[in-house]
Amino acid sequence: MDTRVALHDAPQALERPPRGTLAVPARLPDDEDTVNIHPSANRRLKDFEAALGLTAPPPKGPLFVGVDLGTAYIVTSVVDAEGTPVAGALTRSRSSIRDGLVLDYIGAINLLRAQVETIRRAGYAIDDAMVCYPPGTAGGNARAFANVLEAAGLHVTGLMDEPSAAAEVLEITDGAVVDIGGGTTGISVLKNGEVVYTADEATGGTHLDLVLAGNFKISVEEAERIKTDASRQREIFPLVRPVFQKMAAIVRQHLRDHPVDTLYLVGGTSAFPGAVEVMEEETGLTVALPSHPLLVTPLGIGIRCAREAKANAKPTKGK
Ligand SMILES: Nc1ncnc2c1ncn2[C@@H]1O[C@H](COP(=O)(O)OP(=O)(O)OP(=O)(O)O)[C@@H](O)[C@H]1O
Ligand SMILES: [Mg+2]
Repeated sequence: MDTRVALHDAPQALERPPRGTLAVPARLPDDEDTVNIHPSANRRLKDFEAALGLTAPPPKGPLFVGVDLGTAYIVTSVVDAEGTPVAGALTRSRSSIRDGLVLDYIGAINLLRAQVETIRRAGYAIDDAMVCYPPGTAGGNARAFANVLEAAGLHVTGLMDEPSAAAEVLEITDGAVVDIGGGTTGISVLKNGEVVYTADEATGGTHLDLVLAGNFKISVEEAERIKTDASRQREIFPLVRPVFQKMAAIVRQHLRDHPVDTLYLVGGTSAFPGAVEVMEEETGLTVALPSHPLLVTPLGIGIRCAREAKANAKPTKGK
């Protein structure tokens, strides 16, 4: 079974997913949608999206890998020693991961191994890698994530929590990172570069799909296709707005005792046009949305992997 959805010819490949998979979102925010984000962060995210095409000539120096095992997507980033994105892959998780926990260990390994092989076949000599885990799940679950990487043929050099990975890309040390993914919304407060508070709530992109499926009497898969179709998002916004309002109300509650000035939206569901405005209305805070919010956390892990290698001046393995 071919499990690859690496975007060999991004963005064209977006329209042609392999059989049995869902289309990769047809649209991610462009320049006009990105607000209050450091331009270099947006540039890196755009470079990473382009790098998913695996068309750039592999660079000579060592490469570093970041893996995000999410509920909706498994995303792998490959960066050079300076943290510049050079390659990557993105695959549907196919229920192997749920709400940040490994449900189907073998399934997750097979999906990731397919990504690793695709990237290596394209000429990128990858080995050293880091993986992230949802905040608050350090310990056994984080180790399970590391084991998935090792079994998929990568050498794990470290683990990190998701909001710290996002902060790495966004170049922030303070504020709240709100990660609206597939299964959950994670709320993490950063102060001076440290995660000082974290919470995870069971409302994410899947809930938008369920609302749309119920409304149109269609399958959840079809609902997700409509949700990620840029030409339909304006029309369906009134239907999904209450879900975003609920997410925003939850965020507001969590931040009551942990005040911040700025809220940084990451995770694929943040890409839905209108998410920023609802968050602003409900929280009264400045809300920042990066270009390609789905790619922020995965890229951050790769960048951290490169940075730690540099800091440790660790010998690299024959790259
Ligand atoms: N352009 C878009 N508009 C709206 N939703 C989108 C868009 N692109 C992706 N999504 C949704 O984003 C979700 C996936 O986001 P992401 O990859 O951040 O989640 P995940 O990390 O796999 O899940 P979790 O963090 O909950 O484990 C899916 O529900 C998907 O339908
Ligand atoms: Mg996620």
